[in-house]
Amino acid sequence: MFDALKPQLLDLLNYPEDSVNQRLQKLCNLLKKEIPYYDWVGFYFKNGKKEELKLGPYAGEPTDHTIIPFGKGICGQVAVSNENFVVPDVQAQDNYIACSITVKSEIVVPLFVNGENIGQIDIDSNTPDPFSEHDERFLEFVNAEVAKILPS
Ligand code: SME
Repeated sequence: MFDALKPQLLDLLNYPEDSVNQRLQKLCNLLKKEIPYYDWVGFYFKNGKKEELKLGPYAGEPTDHTIIPFGKGICGQVAVSNENFVVPDVQAQDNYIACSITVKSEIVVPLFVNGENIGQIDIDSNTPDPFSEHDERFLEFVNAEVAKILPS
């Protein structure tokens, strides 16, 4: 499934007539549509010089959490840890920001540009414990490709 998606996502990420935001939007739409247990797919980016994340393009239900302080929630923790965070059961997490009561699990993978953690991809799932190392490797691949089209 993941390998089959790669050509399509490379095409849309490198489509010159779309803005970067349009490409990221199409990427979110593609992942949400094609991966059955990806129910919300979005990007958060460091908000300028502030110690907070700002919501970027996403696919899925709108969220109230458009700004997330560093350290808060799964996303805020990844902003400071620089490491993937796989959450098989969100209810077992103390430091978690709920976006929707239907969400059971989450994966957040940091996005590096020139070695700096400048944001992340965040996936919510309504399925319990669906994520494996295949998701981690795939989302690392996605972020490495996104990094190539972001202004550095
Ligand atoms: N659950 C996240 C907040 C973002 S929403 O999932 C879109 C967190 O705990 O950081």
